[in-house]
Amino acid sequence: MRHKDFIEVHDYTAEEVMRIFELARDMKAKPKKFKDALTGQTLAMIFEKSSTRTRVSFEVGMFQLGGHALFLSARDIQLGRGEPITDTAKVLSRYVDGIMARTFAHKTVTDLAEHASVPVINGLTDLSHPCQSMTDYFTAWEKFGDLKGRKLAYVGDGNNMAHSLMLAGPKLGMDVAIATPAAYAPAAEMVSTAKADAKAAGTKMVITTSVDEAVAGADIVETDVWASMGQEAEAEKRHRDFAGWIVDKRVMSLAKREAIFMHCLPAHRGEEVAAEVIDSPRSVIYDEAENRLHIQKAIMYTLMKDRDR
Ligand code: CP
Ligand code: NVA
Repeated sequence: MRHKDFIEVHDYTAEEVMRIFELARDMKAKPKKFKDALTGQTLAMIFEKSSTRTRVSFEVGMFQLGGHALFLSARDIQLGRGEPITDTAKVLSRYVDGIMARTFAHKTVTDLAEHASVPVINGLTDLSHPCQSMTDYFTAWEKFGDLKGRKLAYVGDGNNMAHSLMLAGPKLGMDVAIATPAAYAPAAEMVSTAKADAKAAGTKMVITTSVDEAVAGADIVETDVWASMGQEAEAEKRHRDFAGWIVDKRVMSLAKREAIFMHCLPAHRGEEVAAEVIDSPRSVIYDEAENRLHIQKAIMYTLMKDRDR
């Protein structure tokens, strides 16, 4: 697989996505087999935003592959004081073998990728969260087997999670339906890319303001917070605007009987999801959280193993 970076699932073919899934499944089943895969390698992890799962799963994942991870809070490195991203990318490339970055502006990650000579992994931006969408579809693949013809419904804010679920769904042959309030629709450029990908894959991509339409017949129902990191100042307004947009038992009853519930976490019970759903047997949130580890190990292995250095 000839990719330097992992920025969007859109950049990968359906076959490449499936190769990463198979590798992640193998790594999950036989972790010891890969314990020396990245011996001597270091991953720099730049965080402009908070994290529990991303930080811990990348750090543990790197350790399990025989390598080392370096936590770099943007507040503490010179990037946070205005050092150009180009210099940061070039300097880090002299020390480390890969960079994972969680940033506000998506351009920060794409600029890092452009100027770093080592692989760059998108650990969440305001625009997308591809490690999470890969993980969510991987979790569904474990539960259901082949995903072709199945449907994912996302209910809530048209945010980074919605975007990444839209871009990854067609790679798995899945139909995707996104329901948001009209003022919180996904970004137009992401919708047009996702629609084109769905057309090419022969799958459906529906963007709607109707929860009932989106969730009807879904195999997976997913939601995310109403106010993402960086939107704290809008939180109150968003709470008013999203009133009633809760995934509760009624919403789940519109999906298939065997449908599962997903949430990337952190979650707010009683806001975007009712406790009766997220804490029910249909919920696979902790499997998703665990699978971040396996999917990201597979991504790091794919990008970093056997690279010319
Ligand atoms: N889902 C997710 O990315 O979690 P963190 O913000 O804790 O990393
Ligand atoms: N949409 C959320 C996802 C957190 C993992 C955010 O960006 O804060």
